[in-house]
Amino acid sequence: MKRLSLTSRLTLSLAVLVMLVMATVGYALYRTLEQQLIIRDDGALITRVEQIRTLLLNEDVMTLIHDKPGLFANMLGNTESLLVLRFPDGTPLMEVNPGRSPIPRITPVPAGAPLTLAAVHHAVTADGIPFISASALANISRAPYQVTITTGRLMSERTRTLAMYRNQIILVATAATWLTALLAWFFIRRGLTPLRRLAAETASMDIHYLSRRIGITRAPSELRQLIEAFNSMLERLEINFRQLSQVSADMAHDLRTPIGILLGQTEVAMRFKRDTDYYENLLGSNFEELQRLARMIDNMLFLARAGDAGHAIERAALPLTAEFGRLSDYFEGPAEERGLTLACERNGATVWADPELLRRALANLLANAVHYADTGTAIVLRAEQRPEGTTISVENAGPDIAPHHLERLFDRFYRADASRAGDAGASGLGLSIVRSIMVLHQGRWHAQSGKRRTRFSLFFPAKPA
Ligand SMILES: Nc1ncnc2c1ncn2[C@@H]1O[C@H](COP(=O)(O)OP(=O)(O)OP(=O)(O)O)[C@@H](O)[C@H]1O
Ligand SMILES: [Mg+2]
Repeated sequence: MKRLSLTSRLTLSLAVLVMLVMATVGYALYRTLEQQLIIRDDGALITRVEQIRTLLLNEDVMTLIHDKPGLFANMLGNTESLLVLRFPDGTPLMEVNPGRSPIPRITPVPAGAPLTLAAVHHAVTADGIPFISASALANISRAPYQVTITTGRLMSERTRTLAMYRNQIILVATAATWLTALLAWFFIRRGLTPLRRLAAETASMDIHYLSRRIGITRAPSELRQLIEAFNSMLERLEINFRQLSQVSADMAHDLRTPIGILLGQTEVAMRFKRDTDYYENLLGSNFEELQRLARMIDNMLFLARAGDAGHAIERAALPLTAEFGRLSDYFEGPAEERGLTLACERNGATVWADPELLRRALANLLANAVHYADTGTAIVLRAEQRPEGTTISVENAGPDIAPHHLERLFDRFYRADASRAGDAGASGLGLSIVRSIMVLHQGRWHAQSGKRRTRFSLFFPAKPA
């Protein structure tokens, strides 16, 4: 089913609301009017009985009734009224009943008692028209008996008036509903213009215009929050997209170098027939390049997987003395080649970390230290355990890293000294892997450099109690 638009929904709600209000008000007014009319008609009927009671006290009137009975029929004036005067034995003194209504049988009010609204009887005819009636005894001048007055009236006129009123209310309510719907539709459509503008602006966004933002100054306050959220989403997208473009550009660039070398060397080798030594050398060099490529792809895969929100790590309390021992053994050879020594401060500290990831992070830091340290100096591995967590640092003597590089060292493919890095087979991924590992551990990472000493520190939070 087609979903209703916001304009249609609001219009419909408003129209229904107006219709309900009008119907309720109209019904209340109708009932009030009906009540008022009933009281007025009942009052008039009682007044008529009282008047006839007074008239009957006058002896001339009795004579008049005998002589000219038609006079009262004229006095009552319309065909809807009924008036019967009876002697105590039931014989009629006078009967005016042009509408031929059945004469109601009601107990008359005693002659001395005044008539109240309660004395009026209400009935409904077969046609559904109300019929009111009242009856009372009346004294007659100088006669020992009393006469029963019975009077009634068919309320067709009142029924007509009320029907007219009801129709009018229905007409007004319907007209008001339509008018409201029409005006509401117009105003709501106008009111929703900013929403349509927002939709149009959003639709015009694409990847090439990520720096564009949606204008907020003319937007109504309800939409501001949405626009702000949307703009900040655009900002994040823009940053991420720029980073991603940078990463893919760097990646292409970094993969091109080893592949270019492989291609070049192979091409040269294929031009002439070579001796076995040449081929052995070529294969050895190709093997190194391929290793470098494999390492890079491995690192990139690791970073891609570590970026997944669902990447799970398995932490354990690891004694750092043992970890440092293992790393020293591993890096002993490369360090010796450069005349470096490895000094580990063993103080029995432990760290709550994933063993594989911890080793990988520390190996990356040590590889950098071994690579960049001044020959003949010592690399120091330190651990400091506190209640909130353990900090591990790797420090070496070597060239200072400029402050503007320090902040960006942990970015993917970032190298402080790109010219030097290429020949060493470095790809600039080591520290970004360290950062990913620290993110997985909800830890912190930090680099400081000055006075020819460079230190990288990693903080691993302790296991929550
Ligand atoms: N101990 C250090 N002393 C001086 N500079 C360093 C040191 N460690 C890292 N750097 C600088 O930080 C940059 C980034 O290091 P990172 O480990 O991320 O990449 P890489 O060592 O160049 O390449 P990869 O580790 O991927 O082989 C290095 O290129 C270097 O300029
Ligand atoms: Mg490195």
